[in-house]
Amino acid sequence: MAQRPYIVGNWKMNGTRAMLSEARAIDRAAQRLMKVEVAIAPPATLIHAVHKEADQIWVGAQDCHQSESGAYTGDISAAMAADAGAKFVILGHSERRGGHGETDASVKKKVQAALGASLAVILCCGESEDVRDKGKELAFVTKQLSASLPKMGNAAEKLTIAYEPIWAIGTGKTATPDDIGAVHAAIRKLLVDLYGAEQGAEVRIIYGGSVKPENARELMSVPEVGGALVGGASLAADSFMGIAAAAADAFEE
Ligand code: 13P
Repeated sequence: MAQRPYIVGNWKMNGTRAMLSEARAIDRAAQRLMKVEVAIAPPATLIHAVHKEADQIWVGAQDCHQSESGAYTGDISAAMAADAGAKFVILGHSERRGGHGETDASVKKKVQAALGASLAVILCCGESEDVRDKGKELAFVTKQLSASLPKMGNAAEKLTIAYEPIWAIGTGKTATPDDIGAVHAAIRKLLVDLYGAEQGAEVRIIYGGSVKPENARELMSVPEVGGALVGGASLAADSFMGIAAAAADAFEE
């Protein structure tokens, strides 16, 4: 795979303007690490400010509404996120599916809206501990993605899939390299089935769930892992860019 590793920080509901110094530090460090594509998705209140500070990194949103505008108190549309400086949006995160009742069908509409507004999309998927214990993770993830992915012809070029097993998010537990490899291989097969051999091979598949500088090199060495979606460890430039540096090493091997 010729693509650079893609290391994305999801700041979740963390950060006020005081965090802009961290964004600046991430941007400066990214300028010295051109082998890696670095991005952060701050809370919506900081998208514009981070965008103005950033020379090297991509800035994105953590969600968007499926409609272009209207009476949706508290929501932002894809076009609004783009207007604030977002180049991508994270969609279908388990914290949105679980905490805000998002379904595969509503996530699919959001993906269509985001692509329609020329945003790139990081579409999240991942099984619960219960599903994993039953050994049904491949069937679950494949079904979840099939139902959340639009069949639009140009979807593949702006798409990244993030595999985030729910039980690994914020818990310090990570899936084993073999487990991650098996899920990523199943996702790749689905993408090739949906978008054809050439386009399906180009979609990046990244892993998320307790990625830290200490485990990043091993996780980034797994076949079909094209980067990481990082929560807690993305809130400090040192740990986040430690992950980016580990990814650069892993991809050079
Ligand atoms: P943690 O890295 O904190 O486990 O979060 C992962 C995640 O949910 C990123 O979207």
